[in-house]
Amino acid sequence: MASLADIWHDQAAGTWLLQTRSTAYAFALTDSGAALRHLHWGPGLPAEAPQALLAGAGGEPPRWERYRSSARERPDEYVPWGGLRYDEPSLKANYADGTRSTEWRFTAQRLTRRGATSTLELDFTDPAYGLVTTLNYRVYDGFDIVERWALLRNSGDQPILIRQAHSANWWLPDRARWRLRYLHGGWGAETNVAEATLGPGKFVLESRRGTTSHQFNPWFTLDPGGRASEDGGEVWSGALAWSGSWKIVYELTSAGHLHACGGWNDFDWSSRLLPDDRLVLPPFAGLYTDAGFGAASREWHAWARAHVIGRGDRNDVTEPRWRTAPGPAARPPGAPAGEPVDGAAPGPGEPGAGPRLRPVLYNSWEATSFSVSQGGQERLAERAAQIGVERFVMDDGWFSGRENDHAGLGDWTVDPSKFPLGLDPLIERVNALGMSFGLWVEPEMVNPDSDLYRAHPDWVYHFAHRTRSQHRNQLVLNLARPDVADWVFAQVDRLLGDNNIEFIKWDMNRPFSEPGWPAEAGHNPERIWVDHVRNLYAIMDALRAAHPGVEFESCSGGGGRADLGILGRVEQIWTSDNTDAWDRIAIQEGFSQVFPPQVMMAWVTDSPNWWTGRRLPLRFRFHVAMAGALGIGGDLGRWTEREMAEAAELVTAYKVIRPVVQQGRLYRLASAAADPYGAHEYLSEDGAQVVILAWWGPSSCGGGRPAVRLAALDPGARYADADNGQQYWGADLLHNGLTLPGARQDDFGSALVRLVRRSS
Ligand code: DGJ
Repeated sequence: MASLADIWHDQAAGTWLLQTRSTAYAFALTDSGAALRHLHWGPGLPAEAPQALLAGAGGEPPRWERYRSSARERPDEYVPWGGLRYDEPSLKANYADGTRSTEWRFTAQRLTRRGATSTLELDFTDPAYGLVTTLNYRVYDGFDIVERWALLRNSGDQPILIRQAHSANWWLPDRARWRLRYLHGGWGAETNVAEATLGPGKFVLESRRGTTSHQFNPWFTLDPGGRASEDGGEVWSGALAWSGSWKIVYELTSAGHLHACGGWNDFDWSSRLLPDDRLVLPPFAGLYTDAGFGAASREWHAWARAHVIGRGDRNDVTEPRWRTAPGPAARPPGAPAGEPVDGAAPGPGEPGAGPRLRPVLYNSWEATSFSVSQGGQERLAERAAQIGVERFVMDDGWFSGRENDHAGLGDWTVDPSKFPLGLDPLIERVNALGMSFGLWVEPEMVNPDSDLYRAHPDWVYHFAHRTRSQHRNQLVLNLARPDVADWVFAQVDRLLGDNNIEFIKWDMNRPFSEPGWPAEAGHNPERIWVDHVRNLYAIMDALRAAHPGVEFESCSGGGGRADLGILGRVEQIWTSDNTDAWDRIAIQEGFSQVFPPQVMMAWVTDSPNWWTGRRLPLRFRFHVAMAGALGIGGDLGRWTEREMAEAAELVTAYKVIRPVVQQGRLYRLASAAADPYGAHEYLSEDGAQVVILAWWGPSSCGGGRPAVRLAALDPGARYADADNGQQYWGADLLHNGLTLPGARQDDFGSALVRLVRRSS
C-alpha cells in the first residue's frame, strides 16, 4: 500500500481512501475498471479499511434482486448515462455518429500536493470516442471538506456534444429516512431555511435564471431520520461553487440508495467539445460531521475564510474563458502577455494572510435612491465619518442618464450635471474624512434607453422574432460574447484606473430571459448559460489582478448571487434588500448556515423601515447588523443628534467585537423562529473572548425570557463581563445560562454581552 499524503491508494484492492481532519471518504475501482464504486463518507477510517468495505459491498445481488431493473443502479461515484441505469446520471454525451451513451475504462491517476491541499485525479476514457472524464477530489489539511469536480476532454477526432455533466455525485449511507434542509426565498426574503423529508423519487432544486437566484441556493444538509440538531447528530452537507443556473437532484433511487448530484443546470444548456477542447465543471464541496448543524456551519465558515474568499478558482480553470482572440486567456487588455491573471490572491491551498476585517461601511442607496449629487453625497459622508464609518459607498444614480431605473445602464460615464468635476472632488473629501471610497456598478446590464443599447442592440441576449422581456426596464448583456466581455472589463478597469476607488459593489438586478445569440445559431449558442458566468469570473479575476487593492461585493438585487463561486472573487456579499432588522434575523440565520459572518453585509437603516414600515429601536437595528459585517444605510442627515451619538457609541462597540464576530467561531444558541429570542455566540479561536448578540420580539402575557445557555466554554474557567465586571463560572454559563439584560421587559429588545476569560 502506498501512502499518498492524506490520500491512500491500495493498488491490489483498487481502493482509494481520502482522509480529512476527522472524516474519511472511500471508493474503489470495480467492473474491470469500468466503474468507480462509492464505499464510505463519514467518520474516519484506518487506511486498510476500504478493502474490507469493498468485500462487504461487492458480490452479485441475490437472485430475485437481479430481476429488478434497478439491480444495476449501484452507488457509483460518477455515472455516465448508458446501459440499464434509470437513476439520475452524471454525464450524458452525444457522439458524431449518433451514439448517445458512454462507456469508459479507468486509464490513469495523478496525485498532486500543493500548499495545504492534496488533489487526486482519476481519468476514465471512452475507448470508442476518446472522451476523457477526469474525476477530481481535493482535500484540505485541517478541514473536513472533500471538494469534487469533473473535467471533460475530447481526445478524439470528432466533435462531442455534452448534454449533461455534473460536478459530483454524492452518495449517502443507507438509512431509513432522510431530512433535507435547504435555503429558499425571494427578493427581500432570501436564505430562509426550509426542510423536506425525502421519500422515494427525486426532489430537484435549481436555478434556471442565469444567476444563483433568490429562490434557492446551491447548499444543503442531509441528516438521517431528521434527528440532527444545532449541536448534535450526523450531518452531511454540500455546497456548489457556481453563480449561474444550477441544479441539484436529491434522489432516493429504486435500488434504495440516496444520492445528491448536480452542477450546471442541463435545462437548455449543451456544450460542443471540438477535438482537444476541455470543459471544467465547477467545484462541489461536501462535508460530514457528527456534531450537528452548528458544527457543519463552522466548518464551512473556517474553510471559506482560509481557502475561498477572494481566492479565485480552486479547480485551476484557466480555459475556456473570456479571451481577446487570439491570445492568452483572461488577460487584462494592456497587461503584458504571460502575466498571471490570478496574481492578486494566493492559489488554491497556498497559505495566505486570510481575509482582512471588513471595514464599517456606509451605503447611500436607501438615503438618496437615484438622487445623488456631489453636495448630497459629501453631506452624507460627513455624517458617516462622525459616527466612525470607515468606507463610504456611493450607490446607483451617479452615471449619465440615470435619473431613475428607466435609463442609463450601460453608459458608465460620470453624470456631469451631478458631478461637474468628475468623482475626484467627492473621493478626495471622503478620503480627507478618513474613509475609503466605493462605487456601485451593474456592468452586465443595459437599459434600452442608453447610448450603449442604441449602438449595440445585438449585444443583449435575444431570440429572433421574439419579445425582449424587460425586468426593471433592463436587458442582460451577452457576456458570452468576447467583444462584450472585453467592453465590460474595460468599463470597470477605466473607472478603477481613473479614480481612487477602493471598493466595487457589483450588482445584477434581473434574471435572464430569451437567452439567445442569433449570430451563433448552429454553433451551440446554448453554451451561454455557462460561458456568461465563466466570463464574469474571468473579468473579475482580471480586474482583481489589475487592481490588487480593490475589494468587491457581490450583489444581485440583494442576495441573488451568494455562492462559493462568486465568493472566490469578492470579499463580501449583500445579503438582502430587506433591511428590516426583525425580518433580517431569519434571513441572516439562513445565510449563516454556509457563509461566514464576515462576508454577510448588514446595514442599519431608518425607522420606520422603507419597505415594511416597521419601527424598531436603533440599538436593536444595530445589534442585528452587528451579527455580520456592519454597514449603515440610513439617511444620516435625518438622524437626530441623539441618534448620531448612540450610533457612534454602537459603531465603537462593534469595532471592539469585530475580530471575534468576523474571525471567531459562530454558535447559533437560539433561533428567533423557534425560541423566545434569537441568540448568537461568537468565540475567538483561543476561546478567551466571547461575544453574545441576542434579539427578541414582542413579549406575550407578561412572561419573561429564559436565560441563554452558552456553548463551548471552559467549564472550569471564570469569565468576566467586559462592561460591568461581573464574573461567571464557565460551568454556570453552560448549564444555567446567562440572563440577558433587558430580556424581561423590552419589546423588540436586544442585547450585546462581551465576556473575557480570566487567566486564573
Ligand atoms: C439592488 C441592490 O440590492 C440595492 O442595494 C441597490 O444597489 C439597488 N440595486 C440599486 O439599483
